[in-house]
Amino acid sequence: MNLTLLGLPGAGKGTQAKKISRDYNITHIATGDIFRILIEKGTPLGKRAEKYIQQGKLVPDDDAIQIVKEEFSRIDMNTGFVLDGFPRTLYQAEILTEILDDMGYRLDMVFFIKVNPEELVERVAGRRVCLNCGATFHIEYNPPKKEGICDLCGDELIQRSDDQKDTVRKRIEIHSNKVDELVSYYKDLGILRIITGQSIEEIYSNIKMAIEVEL
Ligand code: AP5
Ligand code: MG
Repeated sequence: MNLTLLGLPGAGKGTQAKKISRDYNITHIATGDIFRILIEKGTPLGKRAEKYIQQGKLVPDDDAIQIVKEEFSRIDMNTGFVLDGFPRTLYQAEILTEILDDMGYRLDMVFFIKVNPEELVERVAGRRVCLNCGATFHIEYNPPKKEGICDLCGDELIQRSDDQKDTVRKRIEIHSNKVDELVSYYKDLGILRIITGQSIEEIYSNIKMAIEVEL
C-alpha cells in the first residue's frame, strides 16, 4: 500500500503518518524530517535547504525530488510507504507519478487532511518535537507526560526553528494554492480521499475507514 498525505502546515500529516506507518507496517517518508536531519549533519543539500526552510519557503523541487528518489532506492518498495510532505507542488506530483511508474508502482490513495486554517497557527506554535526519535507533541492538545521530555525515548523536546508564529503564517500562505492544485490533480486521478475530523483520534479513525474500504 502506497500513500501520501496532503495538508497545510500543522494539519497533522506527521501525526497521522506515524500512526499509519505503525499500524500498517509501511515506511514513513517525511521530506521535512529528512531535510532537518541533513541540516543537522551540515551536508551540502542540508545547507542549501536551510535558508528556504528558515524563511518558511519551499525548498527547490529538484532537491525534494532527489530526497524521495534516494529513499525509494533505500527502502523495500514492496513493503509500501506513506509519504508526508511530498509532493508539495504540481511538478513534484507529476514527477512522482513518473518515478513510481518507471519502478512499476503507483500511489493507491492520497489523503487530504482538511483543517480550518485558523486553527493551524496555534497548533504549530504549540508543537514540540523530539529530534532523537521524531515524536511530535503539542503543549496543550497532545502534551508529553513530563514537560519538555519525550515520552518515547526520554530525550529533550524542542521547538522547530520554523515554528515561530510569523514563519508559520508565511508557510500557510505559500502552501494554500499549492495544496489546492494537488487536490485537483489527485481528484482527477481518482485516488483522492478527503479526510475531515477534529481530534487526532477522530481523523485517524476516518483515515483507517478509508483504508479498510480499499484493502
Ligand atoms: P514539513 O516538516 O513537512 O512541515 P509542514 O508541511 O509545514 O508541516 P508540519 O510538519 O508543520 O505539520 P504536520 O502536518 O506534519 O502537522 P503535525 O502532525 O506535526 O516541512 C518543513 C519545510 O521543509 C517546509 O516548509 C519546506 O520548506 C521544506 N519541505 C518539506 N518537504 C518539501 C517538499 N516536498 N518540497 C519543497 N520543500 C519541502 O501536527 C502539528 C501540531 O498539531 C503537533 O503539535 C500535533 O501534536 C498537533 N495536532 C495534530 N493533529 C491535531 C488535531 N487533530 N487536533 C489538535 N492538535 C493536533
Ligand atoms: Mg510534519
